[in-house]
Formats: sequence, C-alpha cells, structure tokens
Amino acid sequence: MGAVTNLSSMSSEANRGEQLTGRLLRSFEPKFRVSHLNFYYGAVQALHDISLAIPQNQITALIGPSGCGKSTFLRTLNRMSETIRHTRVEGEILLDNEDIFSMDLVTLRRRVGMVFQKPNPFPKTIFDNVAYGLRVNGGHRGAALADAVEASLRRAALWDEVKDQLGKSALALSGGQQQRLCIARALAVNPEVLLLDEPCSALDPIATAKIEDLMFTLKENCTILIVTHSMQQAARVSTHTGFFLLGKLIEFNETDILFKKPLRKETEDYITGRFG
Ligand SMILES: Nc1ncnc2c1ncn2[C@@H]1O[C@H](COP(=O)(O)OP(=O)(O)OP(=O)(O)O)[C@@H](O)[C@H]1O
Ligand SMILES: [Mg+2]
Repeated sequence: MGAVTNLSSMSSEANRGEQLTGRLLRSFEPKFRVSHLNFYYGAVQALHDISLAIPQNQITALIGPSGCGKSTFLRTLNRMSETIRHTRVEGEILLDNEDIFSMDLVTLRRRVGMVFQKPNPFPKTIFDNVAYGLRVNGGHRGAALADAVEASLRRAALWDEVKDQLGKSALALSGGQQQRLCIARALAVNPEVLLLDEPCSALDPIATAKIEDLMFTLKENCTILIVTHSMQQAARVSTHTGFFLLGKLIEFNETDILFKKPLRKETEDYITGRFG
C-alpha cells in the first residue's frame, strides 16, 4: 500500500481550496480510504459524497455542529450503521486496501473497535464486560484472562475505582465510569482502529486527561478517529481534522492548518464561533 497525498482522494470542492492557497497535505499511509460515500436513513440523506483518507497510526478528529453526520460517518467505518433499519450506504470504504463491505463482519469489528456516544455496557459484571471479547476471540482463560482484564481497565483509567468490585454489575457504575468501561472493553481485543464518538463528554477533566494520554500511547499500534465537540480537544490530540457540515465534509486538513489557517470560510466561521 503506497502513501497518498490526500488531495487525490478529496472532494473537488476541497481540491479547489487547496489550489487557491497552494498548501498541500503532507503524504501519509492511509488506514482507511473512503470514496464517494453516501448514507441514507430511509429517504433522508445524512452523508453526501464523502471522500477522504484516514492516516494510519495517527489521531484524526471529526468536528462539526450537532446533526452534521459525525456519528453516522463513524458508524459506517465498521458497518455498525447496518444495525439501524431502513438505512442504505453507497460508495467505497477500503481498510488496508480491502473492501469492508465484502469483509466478514466479526473480523471487521474486531479490527475496528468502537466506543459509542452513549455508554452501552452489557448488563453483566464489570469483569465480564471487559472479558467478553477476549473469551469470544478465544485464548484467554483463568489468570491470563484476569491479567488482560486488569491491563485494559488500567489503560482506560478505571482500574483503581473498580478493582475491589469487579463482580458488580456494570450498570451500577456512573456514566463516566461506564464510558471508561466501554473503552476498556474495546481495547481488550487490541483493535487496529479505534472509533471514539465523543468519549469524554461525560468525563471530568482528570479522566479526560487520562483518556487523551491513553490515545497518545495507543497510536503506536492503533489508528484513532475521535468525534469531539471540544475544539480544544481536537487541537490537543489530533494530527488531522475533518470538519463536517450538513452531511458534507467541508474540509479535511492537518489540524494546525485547519485551526490556524482554514481553507474554507465555513470552517473559519465554525471555529471562530460564528455558528454551530
Ligand atoms: N437512527 C437514526 N434514524 C434516523 N435518522 C438519524 C438516525 N441517526 C441519525 N439520524 C439523522 O442523521 C443526521 C446526522 O446525525 P448524526 O447522529 O450522525 O449527527 P452528529 O454529527 O453525530 O450529531 P451530534 O453532534 O449531535 O452527535 C441527523 O439529521 C439525524 O437526525
Ligand atoms: Mg453524534
């Protein structure tokens, strides 16, 4: 798989912006390549002709006002959107040059883990939530399983709070703890890509800082996409940022360019708080 300059796979609109300023994205190894993606809930089109490449082993942030399609886009990348009835997807998504729509779903979702906007722990114990994927994927039993569960809970900055109550129901945890549990559950199977949909919206600043530290550690082996409403967070953690508006990808760029010298007026209006 060769490195790409993202221009080649960007929308013509964005290309025009690039030509106007003459600034080029540095080339990178893509983990995902998305081409001409459209997504429909029934008759309503939620994503319009999205094309971009997601850099491997980097953190990419997705920003934009409520309802612009960020969660919808994230869910198409591991085909979670297919669990919603009456939806339709068009276009191409390649993961390491392989078409995700002809991939085995279990394999795809093991490779591409997801943490949802609303925490969704299983109605099981804390331990069993994290152990779930390890048991399903085989291999781990007894002490090895307990060690792997502990390691995932530590990485998700939850271990100290739950180590004495691993047999308690996950549903008895607070919202912020449930979110970190879901992060631990996703991490347990060592995904190649982690999709994080506003993972810190229910977390206090200390837990948020721990999750941000975790993202930096993870990106050595993992490609991360994070949806966030916090532009400060996007600027702190990501190398690349995509700005969505009304189901369209308005601009995809290196994060410091997007925030300091955006190519598109819509991006500038959003980041300077003129709307959204
Ligand atoms: N399950 C669904 N059924 C029907 N329409 C949906 C569904 N989920 C989202 N939509 C619609 O698709 C559009 C994009 O929604 P999406 O949840 O992707 O936005 P978002 O950018 O994640 O917003 P937020 O920042 O509020 O989470 C919205 O118009 C929304 O109403
Ligand atoms: Mg959302």
